[in-house]
Amino acid sequence: MTTPTLPPTQHQARTYTGPSADQVLALRKQFVSPGIFLYYKNPLMLVEGKMQYVWDDSGKRYLDGLGGIVTISVGHCHPHVVEAARLQNETLQHSTTIYLHPNLPEFARKLASKMPGDLKVCYFVNSGSEANDLALLMARAYTGNFDVIALRNAYHGGNVSGMAMTSHSTWKFNVPHSFGVHHAIAPDPYRGPHGLNDPDAGRKYAADVKQLIDFASPGQVAGFIAESIQGVGGVVVFPDGYLKHAYEHVRAAGGVCIADEVQAGFGRTGTHFWGFETQGVIPDIVTLAKGIGNGCPLAAVVTTPRIAAVLSKKIHFNTFGGNPVVCAMGKAVLEVIERENLQENSLKLGRRVLSGLEKLKDKYEIIGDVRGKGLLLGIELVKDRATREPAKTECAQVLETCRDLGLLLGKGGLSGSVIRFAPPMCITEADADFMLAVFDAAFHQLQGPGTPKARPAMAIA
Ligand SMILES: Cc1ncc(COP(=O)(O)O)c(C=O)c1O
Repeated sequence: MTTPTLPPTQHQARTYTGPSADQVLALRKQFVSPGIFLYYKNPLMLVEGKMQYVWDDSGKRYLDGLGGIVTISVGHCHPHVVEAARLQNETLQHSTTIYLHPNLPEFARKLASKMPGDLKVCYFVNSGSEANDLALLMARAYTGNFDVIALRNAYHGGNVSGMAMTSHSTWKFNVPHSFGVHHAIAPDPYRGPHGLNDPDAGRKYAADVKQLIDFASPGQVAGFIAESIQGVGGVVVFPDGYLKHAYEHVRAAGGVCIADEVQAGFGRTGTHFWGFETQGVIPDIVTLAKGIGNGCPLAAVVTTPRIAAVLSKKIHFNTFGGNPVVCAMGKAVLEVIERENLQENSLKLGRRVLSGLEKLKDKYEIIGDVRGKGLLLGIELVKDRATREPAKTECAQVLETCRDLGLLLGKGGLSGSVIRFAPPMCITEADADFMLAVFDAAFHQLQGPGTPKARPAMAIA
């Protein structure tokens, strides 16, 4: 098998002259919380990025298949976003929302123009965790109810309320945080009780939301929160109709519906600008982060004027939320998505990658499932297709091999057995083909010499 080569780039990376990776690692170990973790056996130090590529300290280039954890939406250091930041940085970096500045309402108007229905009022914060915390507050203040339904296998953040709504033991500390939060069965067609071949699976999974309302709450709830596609949980795509039925149950119990679009938003799913639109619903509150700023600390809660009004009952303030620099960058990101047709690109290249992955699934038995929408894709590895036992060690090994071959990827799922591919939306066909070739090589290598395991598609259960 020939070694895949990265498509060429015009960008000339600078020669890196800073401290070595070993020195940086030693500094990190001494002065930085051990709570922040590193990928790879031999940690990777990235020092430059341009569009879909990043460079390490040795000058080696990689295709960034994870986009800074689904955050680089339009490309590393995109010139339009960089220029917007530069202009604003040189004019006024910070003022807070107690004074007027055009960037905040202009960005809000642009963002609201992308939303359906009555979702027209924005509140800017700095991270996805903060956005979800604020959405929860709004839901409770608006409805006067306390209980919230979230989903198992969800990730909504690392602060106390984010951890409460998150449903993975790996991310939950043993401190009081989940009072009033109930987790419904994850509508996971691969691992859940209702499979992909059940046309009624969406309604069946949503019935558990109703069960929780009836048996675990006072019968009235503040709201329901779900990622439109579960990202950290391993790119779980809900069966058609799930959110529609779940929303009906929640609204009937007085609650509002919150869509966490932190990973699925901004055209990444390809067919739609927002992930919830793939399920044919309109939420009452939408939370945004990551791709909204293409790497700057920017997040938002978008809701209806009626729900937004509850925050004026008390004083509510966020020092950096709506900062003029990040608002300029957020607006520039939206302009790039439109001008460069990045949603269409996500659709086209997502299809190309997914169909290539389907072929690899026929070739390598360890691939249990490939799924996702647009450029938010997951490849679930299993030791055995019948038992679906997660192939955690193998997943880590594939990531290592891909890194060696110039492709950075993520992993997800409770067991860390799902490979995640969510590159900047500006990747090309050549990048997609490179990604598939690297994958092929990595799975081939996993089999080891002399132990061919490939078998024809028909023979695979
Ligand atoms: C779906 C989702 N919601 C919320 C968050 C939390 O965002 P942040 O890390 O910016 O607090 C994340 C982060 O990965 C996420 O994936």
